[in-house]
Amino acid sequence: MIDQKLADGLLKRAKEGDTSVLRSAELKSLFDQLKTLPPEERGKFGQAVNKLRGELTELLQAAKNETEALEAIDITAPFDVNVPADKRPTLLPTETGSQHPLMTEISTVLDIFYRMGFTAIESREIDDDFHMFGSLNFPAGHPARDEYDTFVTTQKDKDGNAYIAPAHTSIMQNRVLKAGKKGLEKGLPIAAVIPGRVFRNEDLDARHEHTFYQLEGVYVDKGVHAGHLIATLKTFLEEYYGKALEVKTNPFYFPFTEPSFEFMLSCPFCNKKGCHICSQAGWIELLGCGMIHPNVLKAANIDPEIYTGFAWGGGIDRLVMMKYGIEDVRHFEAAKLDFLRQFS
Ligand code: DAH
Repeated sequence: MIDQKLADGLLKRAKEGDTSVLRSAELKSLFDQLKTLPPEERGKFGQAVNKLRGELTELLQAAKNETEALEAIDITAPFDVNVPADKRPTLLPTETGSQHPLMTEISTVLDIFYRMGFTAIESREIDDDFHMFGSLNFPAGHPARDEYDTFVTTQKDKDGNAYIAPAHTSIMQNRVLKAGKKGLEKGLPIAAVIPGRVFRNEDLDARHEHTFYQLEGVYVDKGVHAGHLIATLKTFLEEYYGKALEVKTNPFYFPFTEPSFEFMLSCPFCNKKGCHICSQAGWIELLGCGMIHPNVLKAANIDPEIYTGFAWGGGIDRLVMMKYGIEDVRHFEAAKLDFLRQFS
């Protein structure tokens, strides 16, 4: 009789599509064995060996058919009705997606400003030299232009300037001021917040990303002063972090505000004790702000002798990192599901 173990081994290999079984030493040994048997046993043994070889051939054919069938599946048509359900490729996860944490936080931020009487206007992702610089009191050749390492297009506008991927949401100031001018003359203040995506040619690290979000704010009316600016930002921040905070300003320079400030916030993470979020300083340098420069008002045909206003601009990513203790800004753009799912 054929050794059962040997036969089983060959059958298993054939099932897996191993075509070498037909030429294998094991199968050959059975034929060799046949020759050594006494004539009366040869017939039965010979039949058994031939039967085994037949089975192996059939199994190999079936394995080949299966591989061919699998190869024929068009992955662009995973629901081909000819493919058995359990053989259909599952390319897409069936879980639903979730909102990106920055989008959720932007809604929260805007909601606070709506309640404070501001409207929201979306920024844009490509702009021109006038909105990025000229309208903001950066004349051509002004050294402060170099502070913004912008990405530009090779295509030029009619004045020969490249288009710019905005490096700040201040690009919207001139548009907002122009749009609000009529209302202003009827006694309605301009009160707008502008969230937007901005781009800078940065060296990347835990605090710097080439793509991030900013929130710009613009407020203009008669008799507006820096006290209004500080109170507005403090009110917003205390509402956003849900706690009392201290704020202070340092003098700073921006071409589009005069005076200009760097706005400091007591660390909402450690309440000024010092922690890894505020680099042990207790204070966070949060955003830039100031009283809108007369030239910026004039560029929108608003008379700076009658109206004054304040503006600010700061990173939304920073704000959110401090709220949740996120240590690396690059998480936001990295599309890492492990990170994103913590907020869904
Ligand atoms: N645009 C500035 C920046 O991104 C921030 C800024 C400073 C915006 C002062 C303002 C402002 O509106 O008044 O560096």
